[in-house]
Amino acid sequence: MNNDSPQAASNQFFKTRLGVIAATVGSAVGLGNIWRFPYEAGNNGGAAFLFVYIFFVVAIGIPVICAEFVIGRSTRRNIAGAFRELHAGFPWNLPAGTGLLASFLIMGFYSVVAGWTIYYLYESFSGFGGIAETAQLHERFDAFTQTPWKSLVCTLLFLLVNFLVISRGIRNGIEKFSNIMMPLLVVILLAFCINSLFLPGAKEGLSFLFSPDFSKITPGVVLSAMGQTFFSLSVGMGTLATYASYFNDRTALVRTASVTAVSDTIVAILAGIMIFPAVFSFGIQPEAGPRLVFEVLPSIFMKIPLGALWSTLFFILLFMASLTSTISMTEVSTSYIIQEWKLSRKKAVVVNAIIVTVLAVICALSFSVLSGIKIAGMTFFNLSDFLVSNILMPLGGMFISAFVGWRLERRVLRRQLTPEGHSARTPRYISLIVFSLKYVTPVCIFLVFIFGLL
Ligand code: TRP
Repeated sequence: MNNDSPQAASNQFFKTRLGVIAATVGSAVGLGNIWRFPYEAGNNGGAAFLFVYIFFVVAIGIPVICAEFVIGRSTRRNIAGAFRELHAGFPWNLPAGTGLLASFLIMGFYSVVAGWTIYYLYESFSGFGGIAETAQLHERFDAFTQTPWKSLVCTLLFLLVNFLVISRGIRNGIEKFSNIMMPLLVVILLAFCINSLFLPGAKEGLSFLFSPDFSKITPGVVLSAMGQTFFSLSVGMGTLATYASYFNDRTALVRTASVTAVSDTIVAILAGIMIFPAVFSFGIQPEAGPRLVFEVLPSIFMKIPLGALWSTLFFILLFMASLTSTISMTEVSTSYIIQEWKLSRKKAVVVNAIIVTVLAVICALSFSVLSGIKIAGMTFFNLSDFLVSNILMPLGGMFISAFVGWRLERRVLRRQLTPEGHSARTPRYISLIVFSLKYVTPVCIFLVFIFGLL
């Protein structure tokens, strides 16, 4: 272990193995699974998208998570400091820049959607005004997002909570939150999946999600599936490297990466099973876009006994899941500012909060007063998401994997990836991961870029 590192000095390590898993899974599981996955799948042909997505999680996701972990734990620094310490010159150190940029942009639009969960929590109390008709819920969503002050208040409220938690530091802030909330979220998702299986549209919904029509796979679908992989696993922008800088030497990296990827994918699939039967049962278009889940969920809740109660519980959990994710995003830039600019955690949080708030306000208003302003046909909200998920994160992932696969000393890589007690022989899976980092990942990402963007 590197004892003069900033983390060692402030003694900021995750305390327990459960804490590590809870924090990385907490980062991965969030709006990406429950809000973004269903509408991306809906836009991109359902099952065909799911299959490409799962392929990417295994072939690219798990190896790149490992690569980020190695970078973070072998240096115990923020993302820029880590690349410097590993003597990664240009262009290998590009992910430090793209990662920081992405972490601000993503916070901008993510906190708007997290703000929606607060509004829907509030609406749950009143049972959405007693409405159960999907058409009216459609209008209600518009009425909310198109009223500037309402969406601003919710977004800012979310940001306030986020930055309060962050300013308290790693241990207290993150560990406690994730340990309780994640398992509860899975339980309630399961309950809703079962409920959805009894809806009249269940068969159609399930076949939309699970029986692929491979003719629907276009370069655009593949690009979206890759974007979703990076977004959902929080990988490619240094979030996981930053978290790994707080891991201790006993944390088994490959296992942590696999547990994170598998649980994240399970939650996304559960969200799909919950949403798509309802989509077909209530006659909603699967291509409805970012609003999809926010129309489908109330329709489900208002048709079951004690709907308002379920709805409240669900949105509280969704809010918490968003929070554990934004905490991890914010940590990239916070740890950068603390270590590179030598500011205290409190001051770093303030700098961060100012930048993010400006971006979030623009994103929130891009549904109302700024809706006319479009760049490349996209509002600021859509553009941030597109840039982050489909460009910056995969680009970061490409450089991270190529760097770890080709440039990093093989000895360092082996030592980091080999769990303690195994030092005598190198486990077979390490060669597989190295192979993917050298060939599969960079080439795949590069090809998807070429075909998907042209
Ligand atoms: N993976 C999270 C989700 O699915 C979002 C997230 C958290 C994230 N940290 C990130 C996305 C870092 C990109 C980068 O909701």
